[in-house]
Amino acid sequence: MGQEHITNYGYAILYNIVKPHDENAAQALLMVGRREGLHSEWYKKMTAFQIEDNPGLIVQVAEGLRWMKMPYNETAPDYAEHVREWFTELGGSTEKIKQNMGRFIYHPLGDIRNTGRLVMDIGAQEGRDIHGISLADIRAAFNQYEMIGGPGYGLMGEAFMEKLGIEKPLKFNNHGPVGRARGLLRTFVANRMDFDI
Ligand SMILES: [Fe+2]
Repeated sequence: MGQEHITNYGYAILYNIVKPHDENAAQALLMVGRREGLHSEWYKKMTAFQIEDNPGLIVQVAEGLRWMKMPYNETAPDYAEHVREWFTELGGSTEKIKQNMGRFIYHPLGDIRNTGRLVMDIGAQEGRDIHGISLADIRAAFNQYEMIGGPGYGLMGEAFMEKLGIEKPLKFNNHGPVGRARGLLRTFVANRMDFDI
């Protein structure tokens, strides 16, 4: 799902570069890019169906995302270390990719609590912590006390979206004492999250 999306974005960048010079080549890039877009949609929907059927698969999705590597790492390892720099030079934005990936994660999971669950699964698998408390321990506490766990995962999911700067599809309500307190907590957690792609 992620690979297809990044590939599609790569074709869009190439299309913009090539278009002023060669219309036919640009159209070819557009056609291939659209196929990659279709592939990513297909994987997104298939992931959604599977998670709807068995929410426990979120752990596997987390693992897949954690180990996701673009094929060029194997097909052209000598160039792989330059890809990020070339990508930026050609007008690509890693921030935009992160945001799109965030949306891609949110949609198949179906709700913000599942998004938080996935973020915590990835963080726990990577041995990360928030303020010195391991995510694995926080996750264990969430799972032990459903009363904290549900809203807790929701807060983690919101913090993830805030960190990536994704405003839609969620609208955070920061009004009133409860909204303000939640906003503070969300920003506190978001500021302690750190992602890379
Ligand atoms: Fe593809």
